[in-house]
Amino acid sequence: MPRNLAALTGFAWKSNRFFCENLAVQDLARQFGTPLYIYSRAALERSVGDYLRAVSGTRNRIFYAMKANANLALLELMVRQGCGFDIVSGGELAKALAAGCPANRIVYSGVGKTCAEIEAAIKAGIHCFNVESEAELERINEIAGRLGRIAPIAFRVNPNVDAKTHPYISTGLKNNKFGIAYDAAVKLFKRAASDEFPHVRVTGIDCHIGSQITEADPFIHAAEKVIDIVQKLEKAGIRLEHIDFGGGLGVCYGDETPPTPKKLIECVQFVCLKRGIENVALYFEPGRSLVANAGVLAMSVQYVKPTQTRNFCIVDAAMNDMIRPALYEAQMEIVNTVKDGQEDAKKWDVVGPVCESSDFMGRDRILSVKAGDVLAMTGAGAYGMSMASNYNCRMRPAEVIVDGDKAYLVRERESTEDLLRHETTLPD
Ligand code: LLP
Repeated sequence: MPRNLAALTGFAWKSNRFFCENLAVQDLARQFGTPLYIYSRAALERSVGDYLRAVSGTRNRIFYAMKANANLALLELMVRQGCGFDIVSGGELAKALAAGCPANRIVYSGVGKTCAEIEAAIKAGIHCFNVESEAELERINEIAGRLGRIAPIAFRVNPNVDAKTHPYISTGLKNNKFGIAYDAAVKLFKRAASDEFPHVRVTGIDCHIGSQITEADPFIHAAEKVIDIVQKLEKAGIRLEHIDFGGGLGVCYGDETPPTPKKLIECVQFVCLKRGIENVALYFEPGRSLVANAGVLAMSVQYVKPTQTRNFCIVDAAMNDMIRPALYEAQMEIVNTVKDGQEDAKKWDVVGPVCESSDFMGRDRILSVKAGDVLAMTGAGAYGMSMASNYNCRMRPAEVIVDGDKAYLVRERESTEDLLRHETTLPD
């Protein structure tokens, strides 16, 4: 039983089999092969709905951070529901537009935007750039000028707040590469709003302090610090149209108890109200909390290998398919999709075939497994497929969206032709 079962809309046990909506995960694995990402449309639409309801009737907006899962069909469902997107590359811009997202529902974050990426985003007419340095401001101003356009910008400030999360996904501390140094922000806003930069229009302020944050406190702390800047700017005659609080809300992978999206948005709104911030739209850029628990990764047991010291359960999914356990030591729940008597359950290290000792899906898991069984990793809808690679010349998995009793293959499993497609050998 996954510990996060209660958080899993769209997934449930029925007669000892693990289901995604009306289809057994084991059957999907047989039909489409493994490793396989399986997403529940109902779960996705529910989490998107939760966020959108929390801002409905206001000017506040949701921009899904598509780095969490950029599957085209999934993006398209989100566009239909009314989400905007937070992008971080030209590739994400292209995919957001291909999914039908209107450009004015796109904000563009990231420390390293290239000239070509900035040009494409200006030409598309995106809603706002989240600018992360003075040099980037200069570059955007120059390119917008050349194109005869005015680029809307917000500055991402680094509020120097501890998000209390894994160091690799903490972004709001002053030693992180992200955002404008807190103390330098007001001065830069003033310069950007002056005649020195005629081809940009300062519309907002932005911050993002990290990911998988499971308490409201760091968000509140960051909001307070951002509002301090907003108020200093007001005094200087610079009125912002929006405040973007970034993403970062954690999910329940095991026994975490993060605030709900509604609760988080209410907390931030309360801080704004308390500080007299009115007529400013509040933006949010959630990634993980929209998609993580809408997806599982199904994998088949290839071999069981008990040794003197440890029992290895070798599956056909690996760190190239799902890197979170290897990279962040993330504890992702793993279940056998068929429960047939747990009497012989013992402790297993669920590992993949890649040639690295960090290639594990989970360690010390109490499971009853045998070769041929289909296991499912829950919470795999975010930062799973989007971080997959071809390491070890492995082909990336297929992706399926389940809608009631129908399953749609929305990304084919890669083939050996795909692996070879972009490469050539030298002439004689
Ligand atoms: N906005 C910005 C500017 C971001 O950099 C991110 C995530 C988000 C929004 C969305 O954050 P979320 O709501 O998903 O926490 N690969 C890592 C997570 C990296 C997050 C990077 N930035 C993981 O698997 O845990």
